[in-house]
Amino acid sequence: MKAIYPGSFDPITFGHLDIIERASKIFSEVYIVVMENKRKNYTFSLEERIDMIKQCTKHIENVKIDFFKGLLIDYVKQNNIEVVIRGLRAVTDFEYELQMAMANKEMCPEADTIFLMTDKKFSFISSSLVKEVAYFGGNISRWVPEYVEKKLIEKLKSYS
Ligand code: PNS
Repeated sequence: MKAIYPGSFDPITFGHLDIIERASKIFSEVYIVVMENKRKNYTFSLEERIDMIKQCTKHIENVKIDFFKGLLIDYVKQNNIEVVIRGLRAVTDFEYELQMAMANKEMCPEADTIFLMTDKKFSFISSSLVKEVAYFGGNISRWVPEYVEKKLIEKLKSYS
């Protein structure tokens, strides 16, 4: 069964990787698809985000990395995907996730959203938190792979 793990991945964190690794054991193929969230302004370009995902998922065989500028459900239909995976960190994620899952279900009844609980080690981290800590010089090595840490430090230097 094919599943999609859509997101902004700005940048990918150990929280995302935990969900990807677990999803890859449940589904035959996991599409990691970088999509646009209209509520966000991105730090990394689409190409940079894709590159970081590729570098950090080399050890997982059944993932396919892609991007899509459009509705998630259109990508799902075009690729005959049956399951949308989203990670849930805390109750605060729930309302937004429920809203998206329900809208997607109404627009595309063929697919279901399945939530995986993020490991408690990563339950409080987000790409935004990682970026803020890095911006003020904090150590982010426990939250993102080394490759991402380097790219984020380079990016922050390019701002100054
Ligand atoms: O990592 P994020 O930012 O929480 O991911 C949100 C994302 C990109 C999955 C969501 O914004 C999305 O699906 N965008 C594509 C456009 C779309 O289908 N929007 C309607 C969702 S109901």
